[in-house]
Amino acid sequence: MTKLLELNLELSAKTPRDILKHALTEHSAIGISFSGAEDVVLVDMAVKIKKDVQIFTLDTGRLHAETYQFIEEVRNFYGINIEIYSPEAAALQTFTKSKGLFSFYKDGHKECCGVRKIDPLKRALSSLDAWVTGQRKDQSPGTRQTIPTVELDSSFTGNTEQLVKYNPLANWSSEEVWNYIRAMEIPYNSLHSKGFKSIGCEPCTKAVLPNQHEREGRWWWEEATQKECGLHAGNVSQA
Ligand code: ADX
Ligand code: SF4
Repeated sequence: MTKLLELNLELSAKTPRDILKHALTEHSAIGISFSGAEDVVLVDMAVKIKKDVQIFTLDTGRLHAETYQFIEEVRNFYGINIEIYSPEAAALQTFTKSKGLFSFYKDGHKECCGVRKIDPLKRALSSLDAWVTGQRKDQSPGTRQTIPTVELDSSFTGNTEQLVKYNPLANWSSEEVWNYIRAMEIPYNSLHSKGFKSIGCEPCTKAVLPNQHEREGRWWWEEATQKECGLHAGNVSQA
């Protein structure tokens, strides 16, 4: 743990590319979680470091058509495989049979995210000892302001006791991410041209107005401090 704290101090001063390079060199069982939004920056950096890097997406079954098209576009653009993890059919059926398709508007997003995102994430992480996310501090004043560059992920365990989680973009701003996307001329989700900043599932994401914070477009009927789906559950306990 102390070693990880020291590593965090060291890596926090480095560029996202150097952080990724460290992560991909240090771990062979490592995967990049790609949401189909501006975290394409990570995919771009990673494939240039290691062409056969493992990348996975959690297909909740409720993503926008534009996001599905974008995931496919990224796959073709880089000539890479993106592993798609889907909800477990029986669990999903039990859930929708008892709660329908929009229960999250009534009793919160946790149960639906549990079936559609967290269970698939557990499966994706089960063979890994490290994972990489596109989380940034500026994405959520309510929950992400203190995320480290590297941390021990105590919410999930992979194939070893210690699952390490890297957040190489933690200290980058949205502006830096978008400068990178434009400068490198890489593809982006077309929803971004329609006022969407933060992109998740279709029923739980909306476009935001000028100067509205990006997180306000996610689970807008819930408290800002609860706006984590469980993928990054540690952020809620920290907040
Ligand atoms: S969320 O927890 O609120 O949905 P957010 O959309 O901000 O997360 O994305 C932060 C990071 O979480 C992404 O860069 C990605 O690493 C991971 N992530 C979020 N959604 C997915 C998804 N559907 N599939 C894979 N990774 C995801
Ligand atoms: Fe369900 Fe919304 Fe969570 Fe997607 S974000 S898994 S639709 S509650």
